[in-house]
Amino acid sequence: MAYENIIVETREKVGFIQLNRPKALNALNSALLTELTTALELFESNARIGAIVITGSEKAFAAGADIKEMQTLQFADAYTGDYFSGWERVTAIRKPMIAAVAGYALGGGCELAMMCDFIIAADTAKFGQPEITLGVMPGMGGSQRLTRFVGKSKAMDMCLTGRMMDANEAERSGLVSRVVPANELVEEALKAAQKIASFSLPVVMMTKETVKPGL
Ligand code: CAA
Repeated sequence: MAYENIIVETREKVGFIQLNRPKALNALNSALLTELTTALELFESNARIGAIVITGSEKAFAAGADIKEMQTLQFADAYTGDYFSGWERVTAIRKPMIAAVAGYALGGGCELAMMCDFIIAADTAKFGQPEITLGVMPGMGGSQRLTRFVGKSKAMDMCLTGRMMDANEAERSGLVSRVVPANELVEEALKAAQKIASFSLPVVMMTKETVKPGL
């Protein structure tokens, strides 16, 4: 498949996906979703791949669902058409996924990062659920996942005020596993993924499967 919204590479035993809509700060539109889920499912079925890294650009992991695509939607159509349901395919991936986040991870961007198994953040990362400022609510699982990861008080603060959390606060709160200098982000994420991919694939997948229900 020819990808227009993402860059897909294989780095040894790691599947590497870079969101690539720089002019829209990697806003997550339907075309990007189709490409991302296709690439993930191809890595899933490739026996040589043991782990996956998803990253964005220096400025933005992803600035959210694509507001321009969303703004023509009517509530009833979005609801009955289950507009965001395609994102369930990301959470169905059984191989480990690491989100390598620099810059903005907002709205759906923060939610995509949280769909991954862990997040490595650059010191430039900024996380937020600003949907409330647009008159909508987190639609891709953010309200539930953020609450589980950072607890009630911070999740309410983030979702109700729309404020952003920097990388240090995100690490303190348990949202991200580690913070690294921005220029080392991809290298560190690939190193972690290579390490995972060096282990027994079935055991890695079983480990992910058994940790998930505890979340
Ligand atoms: N959707 C579509 N386009 C977006 C976008 C988004 N979520 N975020 C940024 N862009 C576009 C801007 O429209 C702009 O495009 P143009 O040059 O064509 O106008 C381009 O990206 C650059 O953005 P800015 O000029 O705004 O860049 P900035 O550096 O001044 O600000 C920012 C960066 C603070 C991230 C700001 O772009 C912003 O606030 N973006 C929106 C963030 C947001 O509200 N996200 C939630 C979306 S709703 C959602 O995600 C629902 C859900 O739960 C799934």
